[in-house]
Amino acid sequence: MTNEAIPNLTAFDEASLDKAFAQLEQQARDSAAAIDGSEAVEAFRLEWLGRKQGRLNDVSGKWLKAAPAEAKKLLGQKFNALKATVEGLLEQASGAGPSDAALAAEAIDITLPGTKRLTGAEHPITKTLNEIVGVFAALGYLVGVGPEVETDFYNFESMNFPPGHPARDTQDTLVVANQERRPLRDRLLLRTHTSPVQMRTMEKQPPPVRIVIPGKVHRNDAADATHSPIFHQVEGLCVDANITFSDLKGTLDHAMKALFGSSAKTRFFPSFFPFTEPSADVQISCIFCGGKGCRKCKQSGWIELLGCGMVDPAVFAFAAEKQPAYDPKKISGFAFGMGVERIAMMKYGVSEIGQFYAGDMRFLSQFV
Ligand code: PHE
Repeated sequence: MTNEAIPNLTAFDEASLDKAFAQLEQQARDSAAAIDGSEAVEAFRLEWLGRKQGRLNDVSGKWLKAAPAEAKKLLGQKFNALKATVEGLLEQASGAGPSDAALAAEAIDITLPGTKRLTGAEHPITKTLNEIVGVFAALGYLVGVGPEVETDFYNFESMNFPPGHPARDTQDTLVVANQERRPLRDRLLLRTHTSPVQMRTMEKQPPPVRIVIPGKVHRNDAADATHSPIFHQVEGLCVDANITFSDLKGTLDHAMKALFGSSAKTRFFPSFFPFTEPSADVQISCIFCGGKGCRKCKQSGWIELLGCGMVDPAVFAFAAEKQPAYDPKKISGFAFGMGVERIAMMKYGVSEIGQFYAGDMRFLSQFV
């Protein structure tokens, strides 16, 4: 393609220069757009940038020389801009990659360290809770859950805390306001233990039952180093034909050894819970001193860790209202309940329960 020769320029005012250069630029663009193949690229280069016959060479010969002194500067600028445009078109047409300068501006230094992202991790309470559940899952227990806002019936009455019974005072309860018009058993409260899920489970299925119930519970207790008004429990319930107290002892002894190491010993002390009979508190040999006696175990060598007992026939009677197979003459069972925070504090040597809830990364990152 041959463009016509560069015309002579007669007017050198800005508007005339603009028009003349715009025309040339358009011609350059048109002929660049028509380039097809590497020979055409070379022809374009010669046509525009050739040292002797190139059009830009002509421009500088004809226009720059003829220009009056006062127009030379502007003309020079426009000439340089046109030249840069033509060079850019040539670069594009020849498929040449971007210039070195462009590459340098975009370069990625692969030797720089990458951006580190913090990986999330289980909270120590979640971790302990899962560990406890895991110990029982390995024994064939399933996992159950229930609501945190519970009725008086499930939290107390069906667990054999009759209305007005003094045993209710052992679990200082947070109740939902403005429930007085409802019958007592339907009134809502924040569950004080995970035991109501025992009843919810039995109402839904006949025996046998082997279930662990992890969850959050609430009590109107003042917070101190070892108490928090919100904490976590893992409940356990096993119901079948011929379940005995020695099954309970063997199961919990195994669980404590699994959680605290095989040298942990357990012992069972008589206790009272309305929903178990007989009831027991379980102590484990002090994991800090091995049973010799230290400050942590108040020199006794033992630490109290959980409550348990054989399911009270009165509880089975409530379950039998929905599932007649819970007949205490034919089946028996045991239940236990443990505080997750207390176990986590022992396992990890934490002395302030509040540390678990403060959200301080310096504390939490120790458990990753
Ligand atoms: N629910 C009891 C409590 O929170 C613990 C427990 C559960 C005791 C099951 C015996 C059997 O104190």
